[in-house]
Amino acid sequence: MKRRAIYPGSFDPPTYGHIDIIRRSLQIVDEVVVASVFNPQKDNFLFTPQERIEMFQEELKDVADRIEYDHFYGLLVDYVDQKNATIIIRGLRAVSDFDYEFQMALMNRRMKPHIETIFLMTGAAHFYTAARLVKEIASFGGTVDGLVPPHVVQRLKDKFAKKT
Ligand code: PNS
Repeated sequence: MKRRAIYPGSFDPPTYGHIDIIRRSLQIVDEVVVASVFNPQKDNFLFTPQERIEMFQEELKDVADRIEYDHFYGLLVDYVDQKNATIIIRGLRAVSDFDYEFQMALMNRRMKPHIETIFLMTGAAHFYTAARLVKEIASFGGTVDGLVPPHVVQRLKDKFAKKT
């Protein structure tokens, strides 16, 4: 049986950090479902779920057959069950991530003890990369080259050009 994990997140936009975690996940599981969270009632994301998928696809062509892209709304643990998976993958960067991640993992375990969260360390180069900061810097015209792929840089420029 194929081992499959869910990699959930906002991915707004995907960064080299996220891409690094997906590639690392594929070293320990057979398939990864990259699941972007969305909220139909109050969507305050810059990119639509479809746009987020396209940006990942562009970067991960070589492992496309081992990745499924999806989006979900509601409790992550319910979604994991729906997908017949038992593993959640989360990336860990600095110590500051730990509190939030620890809390979420334990809450998720409390709700569904059969689901395990696996934390993967991002590559050192991505230690400080955060989509939230990438967005903020790009919104003020700052450079985010090297933090996200070039086509994502362009999409950020296009989005913020439309907003001004
Ligand atoms: O990339 P992010 O924003 O850190 O991802 C957070 C995410 C999507 C994993 C988290 O917000 C989540 O699981 N949302 C779904 C709702 C849910 O299950 N909430 C309870 C978490 S204990």
